[in-house]
Amino acid sequence: MLMNISDERVFLVGYRGTGKSSVARLLAHHLGWQWVDADEILEQRAGMTIRQVFEAEGETGFRKRESLLLEELCELRRTVIATGGGVVLSGLNRQRLKAAGRVVWLTADPPTIRHRLEKDKSTAERRPALTVGGLAEIKELLRAREPLYRAVADLTVDTTGRAPEEVADTIHKSLNQG
Ligand code: S3P
Repeated sequence: MLMNISDERVFLVGYRGTGKSSVARLLAHHLGWQWVDADEILEQRAGMTIRQVFEAEGETGFRKRESLLLEELCELRRTVIATGGGVVLSGLNRQRLKAAGRVVWLTADPPTIRHRLEKDKSTAERRPALTVGGLAEIKELLRAREPLYRAVADLTVDTTGRAPEEVADTIHKSLNQG
Protein backbone atom coordinates (compact mmCIF):
# COMPACT_ATOMS: atom_id res chain seq x y z
CA MET A 1 0.00 0.00 0.00
CA LEU A 2 1.30 3.43 -0.90
CA MET A 3 1.76 5.91 1.86
CA ASN A 4 2.18 9.64 1.91
CA ILE A 5 5.20 11.13 3.60
CA SER A 6 3.18 14.20 4.51
CA ASP A 7 1.19 12.11 6.99
CA GLU A 8 2.05 13.57 10.34
CA ARG A 9 2.30 10.44 12.42
CA VAL A 10 3.53 6.93 11.96
CA PHE A 11 2.46 4.36 14.56
CA LEU A 12 4.44 1.16 14.99
CA VAL A 13 2.31 -1.68 16.30
CA GLY A 14 3.12 -5.33 16.90
CA TYR A 15 3.86 -7.88 19.55
CA ARG A 16 6.51 -7.44 22.24
CA GLY A 17 9.97 -8.00 20.86
CA THR A 18 9.21 -7.04 17.27
CA GLY A 19 11.58 -4.05 17.55
CA LYS A 20 9.06 -1.20 17.70
CA SER A 21 11.20 1.14 19.82
CA SER A 22 14.49 0.53 18.00
CA VAL A 23 12.82 0.92 14.61
CA ALA A 24 10.89 4.04 15.74
CA ARG A 25 14.15 5.78 16.64
CA LEU A 26 15.81 4.90 13.34
CA LEU A 27 12.78 5.70 11.21
CA ALA A 28 12.36 9.09 12.92
CA HIS A 29 15.99 9.83 12.10
CA HIS A 30 15.36 9.05 8.40
CA LEU A 31 12.30 11.28 8.36
CA GLY A 32 13.78 14.12 10.42
CA TRP A 33 10.92 13.65 12.90
CA GLN A 34 10.83 13.07 16.65
CA TRP A 35 9.94 9.69 18.12
CA VAL A 36 8.28 8.60 21.34
CA ASP A 37 7.82 5.31 23.15
CA ALA A 38 4.30 5.14 24.58
CA ASP A 39 5.26 2.66 27.34
CA GLU A 40 8.11 4.89 28.48
CA ILE A 41 5.84 7.94 28.74
CA LEU A 42 3.24 5.87 30.56
CA GLU A 43 5.87 4.78 33.11
CA GLN A 44 7.11 8.34 33.60
CA ARG A 45 3.58 9.61 34.19
CA ALA A 46 2.71 6.76 36.55
CA GLY A 47 6.01 7.00 38.42
CA MET A 48 6.10 3.20 38.25
CA THR A 49 7.24 0.49 35.88
CA ILE A 50 4.57 -1.21 33.80
CA ARG A 51 4.98 -4.28 35.95
CA GLN A 52 4.19 -2.19 39.04
CA VAL A 53 1.17 -0.61 37.30
CA PHE A 54 -0.14 -4.13 36.60
CA GLU A 55 0.43 -5.06 40.25
CA ALA A 56 -1.21 -1.92 41.66
CA GLU A 57 -4.08 -1.40 39.22
CA GLY A 58 -4.40 -4.66 37.33
CA GLU A 59 -4.36 -4.97 33.55
CA THR A 60 -7.60 -2.93 33.45
CA GLY A 61 -5.89 0.04 35.10
CA PHE A 62 -2.97 -0.23 32.72
CA ARG A 63 -5.25 -0.37 29.65
CA LYS A 64 -7.10 2.78 30.80
CA ARG A 65 -3.82 4.66 31.13
CA GLU A 66 -2.73 3.32 27.74
CA SER A 67 -5.92 4.54 25.99
CA LEU A 68 -5.79 8.01 27.56
CA LEU A 69 -2.17 8.37 26.56
CA LEU A 70 -2.85 7.22 23.00
CA GLU A 71 -5.50 9.91 22.64
CA GLU A 72 -2.88 12.47 23.60
CA LEU A 73 -0.17 11.04 21.35
CA CYS A 74 -2.54 11.29 18.38
CA GLU A 75 -2.13 15.09 18.62
CA LEU A 76 1.65 15.05 18.11
CA ARG A 77 3.00 16.17 14.76
CA ARG A 78 5.85 14.71 12.71
CA THR A 79 6.30 11.92 15.22
CA VAL A 80 6.98 8.20 15.03
CA ILE A 81 5.14 6.52 17.89
CA ALA A 82 6.15 3.11 19.25
CA THR A 83 3.02 1.69 20.88
CA GLY A 84 2.69 -1.04 23.53
CA GLY A 85 2.01 -4.54 22.15
CA GLY A 86 -1.56 -4.66 23.47
CA VAL A 87 -2.76 -1.26 22.26
CA VAL A 88 -4.85 -2.88 19.50
CA LEU A 89 -7.02 -4.77 22.01
CA SER A 90 -9.37 -1.80 22.34
CA GLY A 91 -11.69 -0.98 19.45
CA LEU A 92 -11.50 2.70 20.30
CA ASN A 93 -7.70 2.59 20.19
CA ARG A 94 -7.85 0.86 16.80
CA GLN A 95 -10.13 3.61 15.45
CA ARG A 96 -7.83 6.29 16.80
CA LEU A 97 -4.73 4.72 15.28
CA LYS A 98 -6.32 4.45 11.86
CA ALA A 99 -7.66 8.01 11.95
CA ALA A 100 -4.49 9.67 13.21
CA GLY A 101 -1.76 8.37 10.94
CA ARG A 102 -0.09 5.55 9.05
CA VAL A 103 0.11 2.28 10.95
CA VAL A 104 2.99 -0.11 10.42
CA TRP A 105 2.69 -3.65 11.84
CA LEU A 106 6.01 -5.27 12.75
CA THR A 107 5.92 -9.06 12.88
CA ALA A 108 8.36 -11.80 13.89
CA ASP A 109 8.04 -15.54 14.37
CA PRO A 110 7.47 -16.80 17.97
CA PRO A 111 10.99 -18.25 18.56
CA THR A 112 12.52 -14.93 17.41
CA ILE A 113 10.22 -13.02 19.75
CA ARG A 114 11.12 -15.28 22.67
CA HIS A 115 14.83 -14.94 21.94
CA ARG A 116 14.63 -11.14 21.76
CA LEU A 117 12.62 -10.88 24.99
CA GLU A 118 15.11 -13.12 26.80
CA LYS A 119 17.99 -10.94 25.60
CA ASP A 120 16.29 -7.68 26.64
CA LYS A 121 17.40 -6.84 30.20
CA SER A 122 14.36 -4.66 30.84
CA THR A 123 11.95 -7.57 30.23
CA ALA A 124 11.89 -8.81 33.83
CA GLU A 125 11.04 -5.44 35.36
CA ARG A 126 8.94 -3.95 32.57
CA ARG A 127 6.99 -6.80 31.03
CA PRO A 128 4.51 -8.54 33.27
CA ALA A 129 3.51 -12.05 32.22
CA LEU A 130 0.14 -11.71 30.49
CA THR A 131 -0.92 -15.34 30.62
CA VAL A 132 1.22 -18.43 31.14
CA GLY A 133 4.52 -16.87 30.00
CA GLY A 134 7.12 -18.30 27.60
CA LEU A 135 6.57 -19.54 24.06
CA ALA A 136 3.03 -20.74 24.84
CA GLU A 137 1.98 -17.21 25.85
CA ILE A 138 3.55 -15.73 22.72
CA LYS A 139 1.73 -18.21 20.45
CA GLU A 140 -1.58 -17.82 22.25
CA LEU A 141 -1.53 -14.02 22.20
CA LEU A 142 -0.33 -13.83 18.61
CA ARG A 143 -3.25 -16.01 17.55
CA ALA A 144 -5.68 -13.73 19.38
CA ARG A 145 -4.11 -10.46 18.31
CA GLU A 146 -3.07 -11.03 14.71
CA PRO A 147 -6.51 -10.14 13.31
CA LEU A 148 -6.44 -6.93 15.36
CA TYR A 149 -3.00 -5.88 14.13
CA ARG A 150 -4.07 -6.77 10.59
CA ALA A 151 -7.21 -4.63 10.92
CA VAL A 152 -5.22 -1.46 11.60
CA ALA A 153 -2.12 -2.02 9.46
CA ASP A 154 -1.39 0.05 6.35
CA LEU A 155 1.90 -1.79 5.94
CA THR A 156 3.25 -5.05 7.42
CA VAL A 157 6.97 -5.69 7.78
CA ASP A 158 8.44 -9.01 8.91
CA THR A 159 11.44 -8.35 11.18
CA THR A 160 12.52 -11.99 11.55
CA GLY A 161 16.25 -12.21 10.84
CA ARG A 162 16.45 -8.53 9.97
CA ALA A 163 18.27 -5.75 11.81
CA PRO A 164 16.28 -2.68 12.94
CA GLU A 165 18.23 -0.53 10.42
CA GLU A 166 17.02 -2.70 7.56
CA VAL A 167 13.43 -2.62 8.81
CA ALA A 168 13.48 1.17 9.23
CA ASP A 169 14.88 1.52 5.74
CA THR A 170 12.12 -0.64 4.25
CA ILE A 171 9.44 1.42 5.98
CA HIS A 172 11.04 4.69 4.92
CA LYS A 173 11.08 3.57 1.29
CA SER A 174 7.40 2.62 1.43
CA LEU A 175 6.52 5.97 2.98
CA ASN A 176 8.37 7.75 0.22
CA GLN A 177 6.30 6.08 -2.47
CA GLY A 178 3.19 7.98 -1.41
C1 S3P B 1 1.99 -5.45 26.46
C2 S3P B 1 3.16 -5.06 25.86
C3 S3P B 1 4.11 -4.13 26.47
C4 S3P B 1 3.43 -3.23 27.51
C5 S3P B 1 2.63 -4.07 28.47
C6 S3P B 1 1.57 -4.91 27.79
C7 S3P B 1 1.11 -6.41 25.77
O1 S3P B 1 4.68 -3.30 25.48
O2 S3P B 1 2.62 -2.27 26.90
O3 S3P B 1 3.53 -4.87 29.19
O4 S3P B 1 -0.05 -6.53 26.15
O5 S3P B 1 1.58 -7.04 24.79
P1 S3P B 1 5.87 -3.75 24.48
O6 S3P B 1 5.22 -4.31 23.26
O7 S3P B 1 6.57 -2.47 24.20
O8 S3P B 1 6.72 -4.73 25.22
